Amino acid sequence: VEIIEVSGALAVMGLGTWKLAQGQLTLGGLLVFLALIGKLYSPIRDLSRLGNSFYAASASAERIIELLDQRPQVVEAASARRTGRARGDVEFDGVSFRYPGTTRRALSGVSFRVAPGETLALVGASGAGKSTVAKLQLRFYDPDQGTVRLDGRDLRDLFLSDVRESVAVVLQETLVFHGTVRENIAYGRPEATEAEIVAAARAADAHDFIQLLPAGYDTMVGQSGRMLSGGQRQRLAIARAMIRDAPVLLLDEPTTGLDVQSGRRIMGPLRRLMAGRTTIVISHNLLTVSDATRIVVLDRGRVVESGSHDALLAHGGMYAGLRRLHAVTSPAQAGSSSQGSVLS
Ligand SMILES: Nc1ncnc2c1ncn2[C@@H]1O[C@H](COP(=O)(O)OP(=O)(O)OP(=O)(O)O)[C@@H](O)[C@H]1O
Ligand SMILES: [Mg+2]
Repeated sequence: VEIIEVSGALAVMGLGTWKLAQGQLTLGGLLVFLALIGKLYSPIRDLSRLGNSFYAASASAERIIELLDQRPQVVEAASARRTGRARGDVEFDGVSFRYPGTTRRALSGVSFRVAPGETLALVGASGAGKSTVAKLQLRFYDPDQGTVRLDGRDLRDLFLSDVRESVAVVLQETLVFHGTVRENIAYGRPEATEAEIVAAARAADAHDFIQLLPAGYDTMVGQSGRMLSGGQRQRLAIARAMIRDAPVLLLDEPTTGLDVQSGRRIMGPLRRLMAGRTTIVISHNLLTVSDATRIVVLDRGRVVESGSHDALLAHGGMYAGLRRLHAVTSPAQAGSSSQGSVLS
């Protein structure tokens, strides 16, 4: 476009001077030509920019079409039945699972049951398969063998929306969306009223810090929640889970990434959230697990131990080993919470 502009101006000047010399053009005429050609450039530039936008848009459209063409791995059965509110009886029955495109099983023969209102802790080394259990509970994938049940019914016989409505999650990395604080909380249940939102924020110990934000509940938080600290984001996630009021709660490492103080700070809200719900808490820092009803220790996809905190300590197996290791590697944490447990 710039070459066209320069050569245009040069041509007008060259040709114009020549015509001027021959007396076929007046000086005024030449100046008018030059002025007019200047006016012509901005529409040409706009046109060329249009071309750019067109190519950018078509590339984006291709990505969107690709996404729309993706077929989810899990499909709703034609015979799926509606259920009312679940009681929250979660059961894994001989579940084996391999991620598509991998050769190693992420879970093999995992069985456990959590009765309504109970808390189950899943512990194990990194890569043991803990988060995979959470993904299967949410039915992001179907197990290759065995069954995952909710209230005694195979997840594959239920509507996906029912399965997911029955579960609230608090993950290690909280997704904060670009929007107001209010929207970020109500995202858990879009039809929530203002009073419910505030109540959830209070219960999550988030109300006070939200009040201190520049525009309170209307403060815009950036895409990755840049305005909020890790602990504040986590409390926002708890409020979000609180407002969903789901019978099953999945906590995947809710306190890692936080310092001891922030970790302790969210324990109160977490316990309030856990009250009366079936909870699966995943943790390898072991601080949050010791008063769970039962602890299941996973190792390379297998359940290697299961039982109460005391029983497992007495047994002196892998859990006791992890526990010892933890006390050695983080004396500050173990020391600051007398029994090494914040929950109890
Ligand atoms: N999306 C995926 N695709 C393929 N393999 C995966 C995927 N997610 C996890 N895996 C594999 O499955 C195994 C279990 O992973 P999982 O995320 O359940 O571990 P984890 O116990 O939650 O570990 P961490 O404590 O580090 O979070 C790992 O070997 C991992 O490499
Ligand atoms: Mg994990």
